[in-house]
Amino acid sequence: MRQLYLDYNATTPIAPSVQEAMLPLLAEHFGNPSSNHVLGRAAAEAVEDARGQLAILLGCDPDEIVFTSGGTESNNLALKGVLLREAPAAGGHLIISAFEHPSVAAPAQFLERLGYDVTIVGVTGQGLVQPAAIRAAIRPDTRLVSIMHANNEVGTIQPLRQIAAICHEHQIPLHTDASQSVGKVRTLVDELEVDLLSVAGHKMYAPKGVGALYIRRGVELEPTQHGAGHEAGLRAGTENVASIAGLGRAATLAAKSLDQAHERMAALRDRLWQQLAAEIGNPLVLHGALVQRLPNTLSVAFPGVSGQELLARIPELCASTGSACHSTGRSISPTLAAMGVSDEAARGTVRLSVGWQTTEEDIDRAASLLLGAWEGLRTQ
Ligand SMILES: Cc1ncc(COP(=O)(O)O)c(C=O)c1O
Repeated sequence: MRQLYLDYNATTPIAPSVQEAMLPLLAEHFGNPSSNHVLGRAAAEAVEDARGQLAILLGCDPDEIVFTSGGTESNNLALKGVLLREAPAAGGHLIISAFEHPSVAAPAQFLERLGYDVTIVGVTGQGLVQPAAIRAAIRPDTRLVSIMHANNEVGTIQPLRQIAAICHEHQIPLHTDASQSVGKVRTLVDELEVDLLSVAGHKMYAPKGVGALYIRRGVELEPTQHGAGHEAGLRAGTENVASIAGLGRAATLAAKSLDQAHERMAALRDRLWQQLAAEIGNPLVLHGALVQRLPNTLSVAFPGVSGQELLARIPELCASTGSACHSTGRSISPTLAAMGVSDEAARGTVRLSVGWQTTEEDIDRAASLLLGAWEGLRTQ
């Protein structure tokens, strides 16, 4: 059975050219980048090349990038790094949105347990954070605002520039979890006006277990992992050289193909939506704003059925009933709950995310399988 993969928001395959960039570093150039000999220097050079490549994609200086193990670690470093620089007694307030990924929501809860204050601002039914809500939540002791760039489940893109303008009026840094947007849409840090930005390698055709945090020059962070002085003292531990090289190559690929891939992804996503909507009509609900969203993500609620049962009928289709983190549980996705989606619609929701390898034939086959399974469940 040929698998039909429409779960690119959960993870992407490693691009062939990324693999090519990694292999020499797993084999002949295996040195420790901290070693002062030929093999060490080759590894250090590979890390610095990758830093430069990612810096081009983000529009920053290479020394504003710290490599990490992925989106989760980058988010942890951003939130804890900023807040932990001063004890909670000095007044430490953090603002996040109601549909952040657990890798932002959980560190925020941890900081709250340590005595910091956290405000969670709501999102609209369209899956957007309102800048006015951020303005209302800001306090004299607010130290950081963290709002995701693109939502992982519904794909909506947040108005970061407007939010940044409000934060900067109050001299508050803005962090964004861009794990889902880097490589899919433009993520130039000066255009977004963000001060910290998280990257996840395995959402952009690089391997799992590698990522980065962009830190605008002048933003001070407390390291959360202590040890030797790797990564400008902000992330101790011998670098994951091959994966970092893979991330660098993936950044170059993304930078080259961004506009073209955007158009192609959006066309595939819309083809899928049109085929489903043509059969099911109005009862098929599309989650999230129509304009401000990722080109590759379609989150839809099938009427009268459960998304889990629907996907269980189509073993050849890899898709998700929410974020991957929730797909094994029975609970309603917190993202959809935050958007005020009814329990019934949330239960019927399937997230379909396309990627570089998706073809029109894949889309037609997926639509036909989904419609067949939906009919089957309805007439049971
Ligand atoms: C929005 C978002 N943030 C963070 C992460 C975590 O990234 P990683 O798996 O690299 O730790 C994910 C992955 O699902 C995500 O979708």
